[in-house]
Amino acid sequence: MSPRLAAAALPLPPPTAAAAARGVAVPRPRTVLPWASVAFSSPSSCRGALACLVRLRCSCHSAAAGAAVEEARRGRKQLGMTPPLYDYLLSNVREHPVLRELREETAAMRGSQMQVSPAQAQLLAMLVQIQGAQRCIEVGVFTGYSSLAVALALPESGRLVACERDERCLEVAKKYYQRAGVAHKIDVKHALAADSLRSLLNCGEASR
Ligand SMILES: C[S@@+](CC[C@H](N)C(=O)[O-])C[C@H]1O[C@@H](n2cnc3c(N)ncnc32)[C@H](O)[C@@H]1O
Repeated sequence: MSPRLAAAALPLPPPTAAAAARGVAVPRPRTVLPWASVAFSSPSSCRGALACLVRLRCSCHSAAAGAAVEEARRGRKQLGMTPPLYDYLLSNVREHPVLRELREETAAMRGSQMQVSPAQAQLLAMLVQIQGAQRCIEVGVFTGYSSLAVALALPESGRLVACERDERCLEVAKKYYQRAGVAHKIDVKHALAADSLRSLLNCGEASR
């Protein structure tokens, strides 16, 4: 992982006593995330197999929730998303209108809790832009929310390999790729991801 992206994926420092003493307002919460696995490859890192693998976990800072945060950091417990917290996120996130439509359709579907949050998708899109990524891989598309966010952030010449085993999920995803005008950037692989990735390697895609 490049140092820049490593820094972007680090948990935030908790509010400090010094900041409190200065009367500085400490923003919270910063991120509330399920998880996502996306790999980015940029021109500067084409010689490496993958530039970055980001695994994001829930992180929320609050003086009252110190013990719960500590437990979450150790992976024992995840903090819940309250309705006011989710409203706060939605009102502060940049969301493409087609992403919004997809989120609304997904909300009515079984397994909708698997979708990444709009804030998480925005972070993934930002990482694509910071890295100048040209090639990305997503393992686990579901209905396509994070892959659509990544594809929208990629340049016209960029490509995303999107791996998913569930055909019904892919039907929804492909509809929204078309609607957003980014279908040409996405190579959908309907299979077990390990098989799709192995076949990429067999086709000479190693280190690309
Ligand atoms: C947490 S969801 C992904 C959420 C998605 N990134 C989004 O933004 O909505 C995980 C997805 O991975 C898929 N999946 C699980 N194991 C898989 C495998 N071995 N190969 C391909 N897809 C897999 C599941 O069908 C499910 O749709």
